[in-house]
Amino acid sequence: MKFFVDTADVAAIRELNDLGMVDGVTTNPSLILKSGRDIREVTQEICEMIEGPVSAEVVATEAPAMIEEGRKLAQIAPNIAVKVPLTWDGLKACKALTGEGHMVNVTLCFSAAQALLAAKAGATFISPFIGRLDDINLDGMELIADIRTIYDNYGFGTEILAASIRSVNHVTTAAKIGADIATAPPEVLKKMAAHPLTDKGLATFLQDWEKTGQKIV
Ligand code: E4P
Repeated sequence: MKFFVDTADVAAIRELNDLGMVDGVTTNPSLILKSGRDIREVTQEICEMIEGPVSAEVVATEAPAMIEEGRKLAQIAPNIAVKVPLTWDGLKACKALTGEGHMVNVTLCFSAAQALLAAKAGATFISPFIGRLDDINLDGMELIADIRTIYDNYGFGTEILAASIRSVNHVTTAAKIGADIATAPPEVLKKMAAHPLTDKGLATFLQDWEKTGQKIV
């Protein structure tokens, strides 16, 4: 499974990237707001650090303007994936932008039917939002499983990018189902290293080591 980091926080991306954990980055207008930075400037900085795809989202809602914005975002760097929402106009923009050779991440996907349309429109990535479905008591993981089945049934090359990830369980369950990528906030990726039995076992080892009176020389 590939890991994308869902943030526009450059320092957080750098820390994970130095560990070799980062296969790509996703941003959205809310994450740009949170960063407090200019979209072009921060996106360029991320693209210079990360070799993989960096998603930057259009904010126009009609296809011709979305396509124009997508072209401008794609000029920032060769590894930009233009993010478009899963609307009818977004699908038109997806078709046009992939036709021009750009990567396109179709975002805000909440149903298997939407995911099927995105694949037909040539999306590079489809972003089903797990956490936001869970928020309204629907099963985000069932959506990932349905999309996996549909894409495998017909051999679609669109990669399933599990998004709106809120927990470690979201990542591992999406991995078991076969999502190609998980995009998660840095704190969720870091939490994946934590286990109470690891902490407990380490404390015991260190106490016992202290009792030996030895040093590693
Ligand atoms: C994905 O590309 C989105 O940026 C993100 O995962 C949304 O997550 P949220 O529902 O936690 O805002």
